[in-house]
Amino acid sequence: MTQSASTILILGASGDLSARLLLPALGQLLTKQPDLGLQLVGAGQEELTPEAWRDVVEGAFKTSEATGSAVEKLLATTEYHHADVTKPAEMKRLLAACSGTPAIYFALPPAVTARVCDALAEVTLPEGTQLALEKPFGVDEAGAVELNTGLAKLVPENQIHRVDHFLGRSTVLNLLGLRFANRLFEPLWNGDNIAKVDIVYDEQIGLEGRAGYYDHAGALIDMIQSHLLQVMSIVAMEPPSTVEAADLRDAKGAVLRATRVRGGSPEKSSRRGRYTVGTVAGRELVSYVDAPGVDPANKTETLAEVTFEIDTWRWAGVPFTVRSGKGLGAKRREIVITFKPVPHLPTGLLGQEDPTVLRIFLAPDEMALELNINGPGDPHQLERVSLGATFGPGQLLAYSEVLEGIIEGDPSLSVRSDTAEQCWRIVAPVLEAWRTDAVPLDDYPAGSQGPADWPQIR
Ligand code: BG6
Repeated sequence: MTQSASTILILGASGDLSARLLLPALGQLLTKQPDLGLQLVGAGQEELTPEAWRDVVEGAFKTSEATGSAVEKLLATTEYHHADVTKPAEMKRLLAACSGTPAIYFALPPAVTARVCDALAEVTLPEGTQLALEKPFGVDEAGAVELNTGLAKLVPENQIHRVDHFLGRSTVLNLLGLRFANRLFEPLWNGDNIAKVDIVYDEQIGLEGRAGYYDHAGALIDMIQSHLLQVMSIVAMEPPSTVEAADLRDAKGAVLRATRVRGGSPEKSSRRGRYTVGTVAGRELVSYVDAPGVDPANKTETLAEVTFEIDTWRWAGVPFTVRSGKGLGAKRREIVITFKPVPHLPTGLLGQEDPTVLRIFLAPDEMALELNINGPGDPHQLERVSLGATFGPGQLLAYSEVLEGIIEGDPSLSVRSDTAEQCWRIVAPVLEAWRTDAVPLDDYPAGSQGPADWPQIR
C-alpha cells in the first residue's frame, strides 16, 4: 500500500525552479485538493528569514491564483532552513522538521543531487519517503546508471519520481485515449499504414539567461533526450493493459530499448543549428554566442533534429524525426503522423493526392485530422479538409499533475530508471558525432524557421 506524503521538503527551495514552477504548482494543487493538507519545508544555501521565505511562497502561489484553507494553513506553518544539504547531519535535521511521510524534491543541479544522495545513504529515511528529481538524470548513460544505483540504495524504485513535465497526466492520457479508444486509429498504427512520424517542439524564446545550464546541455539533451523521446515512446507503445504505472512504464521501456539513430548513422540522421542575431515576435535576440555566459567553444546547438528508428515488427522502416529548437520564428509543438498514400486513387478523381495526416498539438492540446474530400463544384475534384477537436485543458498545470503523483506515491507519470538510461544510450552516438564535428553546426537567423537548406517538416 502506498502512503501519501504529508510534507514536501524542497531542497534548493530558494532557487528559480522552485519559485517559477514548483511552488505555483503546489499552490494550485492545494487549491483544487485541499484535503491533501500538505506541509512545506524549504531548504537552501541562501539565508532567508521566515518572513522572506513566506513572501517567496506567497508570491509564487499568487501566480497560480492559489487560495483556500489548505493554502492558508501551509502558509502559516511553512518553514525554511538554511542548510548544506550535502551533509548527512543537515539532512537529518531537515527530515526531523517534516511531519509524517516526506516527499523530498531535489530542485538542484545533477552534481549536487548526486552528493545529496550520498548524504542520504547515511540517514535512516522515514518509511514511504518519496524522492523527486529534476532532469537531467545524469550527464550520460554511465552517469545515469551511477545516479540510479545510488538512488536504489535509498528507497524502492516506485518511490523515485524522475520528473518530466511533458508527462503531465493530460498529455499522456490524451494520447492514450486517442490511440486506444478509437477503432479507427489503432489498427492503422503501424508501418504498414504510417509513412513517418514527426515530433516537433519549436520555441520562440531564446536562452533567457540560462547559459549556466543550457550552454552545457544544448537542444539535444535539453529537449530530445529529456522530454521528446518520452513523448515518442507513448506515441509508439504497444497497447498497455491498464494505465497503471507498471503497464505504462513497461510499454514505454520496450519502445525505448528498441530505438536507435536511423541507419546507425548520426551523420545522415541528425542535424544541428545555432541561432544568430534576429527578431522573434518583435523582440530582438542577440546571437546565441554573444549571450552572457555562453562559451562559443562549447559549440552548443540551439536547434536539434534527429531521425530514429524503432526496431520492432510494428515500426520497422518508419522514420521518427524529433526536432526542437529555440529562437525560431513560430511556436510549433506537434506530433505529426503522416499516413501512407492510398494504394490506388480511382482514375477520374483529381487534385489532392496528399496522404492523410493526423496532427496532435501540445499545449494547447488539440488535434486535426487532414483528409481529402470531394470539394464543392466539380465532384471529381478533391480538396483538403481538416477535422479539428480540442482535448480541453486539464484541471491542473502539468507540473501540478506531476506533483500530485509524487505526493500520492504514484510513479506512473515519472521516468523509470531504465528509461532514463535508455534515453542517454539512444542519443550517445549523436553527441559523439557532434563532438567530433562529423555533423556541421549550421546557423539560422533568430526568427527564421531554421537553417534555410534543412528540409521542412510539414
Ligand atoms: C524545459 C527546458 O524542460 O522545457 C526548456 O529546459 C524548455 O529549455 C521547456 O523551454 C519547454 O517546456 P514548456 O512546457 O515550457 O513549453
